[in-house]
Amino acid sequence: MCGICCLVSLSQHPPNISLLKEDILYNLRRRGPSSSQELVKTVPHLPYHCLFSGHVLHLRGQMTPQPMEDPTSDNVLLWNGEVFDGIPVEAEENDTDIIFHHLCSCSNDSDILSLLSSIRGPWSFIFYQACKHCLWFGRDFFGRRSLLWQFNEELDNILALTSVSAISDHQWREVPASGIFKVDLQDCAATKAVTLSLYQWRYPSRENPSEEGVSEKVSTHLPTCVSLVINESNSLTAPVVPLNKEVCNIPEEFQLLHFIKNVDDMEVLQMFLAEQHKKKLVHQFIDVMSGAIKRRVLCLVRDADQLQGDVLGDVRKTEIAILFSGGVDSMLIAALADRHVPVEEPIDLLNVAFMVPEQGSQNSSTKHRKGKNQLPPSPEGLNVNNIMAGNSVPSFNVPDRITGRAGLEELKNINPSRLWNFVEINVTLEDLKAMRQQHICHLVYPLDTVLDDSIGCAVWFASRGKGLLTNQGDKRPYQSPAKIVLTGIGADEQLAGYSRHRVCFEKHGLEGLNEELGMELGRISSRNLGRDDRVIGDHGKEARFPFLDEDVVSFLNSLPVWEKANLAVRRGIGEKLLLRLAAAELGLTASSVLPKRAMQFGSRIAKMENRNEKASDKCTRLQTLSIE
Ligand SMILES: *[C@@H]1O[C@H](CO)[C@@H](O)[C@H](O)[C@H]1NC(C)=O
Ligand SMILES: *[C@@H]1O[C@H](CO)[C@@H](O)[C@H](O)[C@H]1NC(C)=O
Ligand SMILES: *[C@@H]1O[C@H](CO)[C@@H](O)[C@H](O)[C@H]1NC(C)=O
Ligand SMILES: *[C@@H]1O[C@H](CO)[C@@H](O)[C@H](O)[C@H]1NC(C)=O
Ligand SMILES: *[C@@H]1O[C@H](CO)[C@@H](O)[C@H](O)[C@H]1NC(C)=O
Repeated sequence: MCGICCLVSLSQHPPNISLLKEDILYNLRRRGPSSSQELVKTVPHLPYHCLFSGHVLHLRGQMTPQPMEDPTSDNVLLWNGEVFDGIPVEAEENDTDIIFHHLCSCSNDSDILSLLSSIRGPWSFIFYQACKHCLWFGRDFFGRRSLLWQFNEELDNILALTSVSAISDHQWREVPASGIFKVDLQDCAATKAVTLSLYQWRYPSRENPSEEGVSEKVSTHLPTCVSLVINESNSLTAPVVPLNKEVCNIPEEFQLLHFIKNVDDMEVLQMFLAEQHKKKLVHQFIDVMSGAIKRRVLCLVRDADQLQGDVLGDVRKTEIAILFSGGVDSMLIAALADRHVPVEEPIDLLNVAFMVPEQGSQNSSTKHRKGKNQLPPSPEGLNVNNIMAGNSVPSFNVPDRITGRAGLEELKNINPSRLWNFVEINVTLEDLKAMRQQHICHLVYPLDTVLDDSIGCAVWFASRGKGLLTNQGDKRPYQSPAKIVLTGIGADEQLAGYSRHRVCFEKHGLEGLNEELGMELGRISSRNLGRDDRVIGDHGKEARFPFLDEDVVSFLNSLPVWEKANLAVRRGIGEKLLLRLAAAELGLTASSVLPKRAMQFGSRIAKMENRNEKASDKCTRLQTLSIE
């Protein structure tokens, strides 16, 4: 994870570093603590200048400071990404170096587009192509890395790009992940205005671009001084296959329903698994997920000698952490990470809880929730609701904490020789308010809803990894040193995990469900990924999203929807069915049948403050902080 930033100026004088606002620079440095540098490009006889600012988090190969500059071509690259596949990168090589080398050897625009199309992994980038006086920038197909833009009337700062900004500055927007943008700076200097050329993503087998209505979508928020030209003759190749929207041939098992009414959840999963076809799919899914997780846990520097002097004995330093609720998504990730992370290395399970109001003061709202979020008794007889109502200090025993602990026990059973670090992260209202004001509001920005606030805060505290380690009976303060944070984002959007999917299915059938799922994956960049990347990156850590691996998405996109979910079957089984079957097949029992609980409810952050808001309302707690 790196922080990248570029300012374009058309004034007579080269830009001053002070144009880069101190609060933005501060946020960029937090993303890239290993190295920070600035570089100004001026061109003789042409009235444009670029200021590049690069902040690197060192993860692979040798430390490669940014911005990178090529002395022969004068090209400049800022790269915030990971090449997991598609272009060969050896373990000891730095991918920034390799991408830059490839970019510099491109002889025309098609070469650049096909290079970017071939990368497998998350990225955002800014590339200055000196010979053509062009600035290229953009985000990967899903938008897994953040990039914001801002256009100004002032000539000394006509265009600005950055990974993260600050809320005091009210004109930033997320760069749409609709393709790659190119700005001809020579032309820009001549006309004193910005023209954006957009190269869109296109599926290999299809005529039309992968996304419709892009022109409207991209231009809506552009100021009038900026024009957009979509280049129809050239495009990028989407790294995944399109969504299979088949709806006929619904197999027998859909009829199974009345039959399973009185059957235990785990037994229902076993009934599905008894079918050869289903079992085969489940194993294909496990294999493709396992590959995705392997790439994400092995692409980093592991110093073989790096031992942690520790009360627990000489164990290796933890490199991998997982945002861990104990729900089926995070359990599957943990169980598969266990296959690939060296066994002597601990894995950190980050479990966040927000203080719930004292018992008694929560009487009416508790009643309101009951039924909706009630958890079924698990086969082991662990009943979450009983624990909730009863023993121990109640204040941080939120649903995700309880399922998290239960999940930990399952993981210990799967691999007793692994040290699983269950990190209890308790957040008080004071902490929440302070950190929101100091950091989180700037990271969530330019998103601004109540939901963005809840999830942004929950993910920030969870990924910081500062809490209490409760491994061996004793409890001690702990700060997770892992630079890689795996998250389960993308599972619900692809496998129909949200309750709205059930509503959609009941109203509009499989066709409606297909439309909904396609739409949701299309907007995941603007709804979630930019925000989560900014929030997690703030700790000098890198978010990695195994469910959004290109192979995983292609596999899931290729399946008809009824293989992924069966929303005619009850909650806790039907949604994300394929994922639950995979978890059951891996020996995860109770967690494989837990119903979906959104993070803002599971961690109880949504209950901590104003309870009468809608998730889509603008969040006043994020906004009022901008007064300087
Ligand atoms: C990047 O890594 C390569 C080795 O893979 C090394 O030769 C090069 O010097 C590194 N770049 C920088 C700037 O450190
Ligand atoms: C671009 O350059 C490559 C060589 O690098 C060449 O093979 C290709 O035909 C060129 N494409 C166009 C559209 O000019
Ligand atoms: C589209 O892009 C190609 C190559 O990048 C360029 O030659 C062509 O002029 C562009 N077309 C338009 C309409 O801008
Ligand atoms: C519990 O709910 C009742 C009715 O809504 C209310 O009058 C009472 O003040 C509540 N108790 C607490 C401790 O909030
Ligand atoms: C966090 O909350 C749990 C459960 O309420 C409690 O056992 C633990 O001691 C708390 N830790 C801290 C640091 O407050």
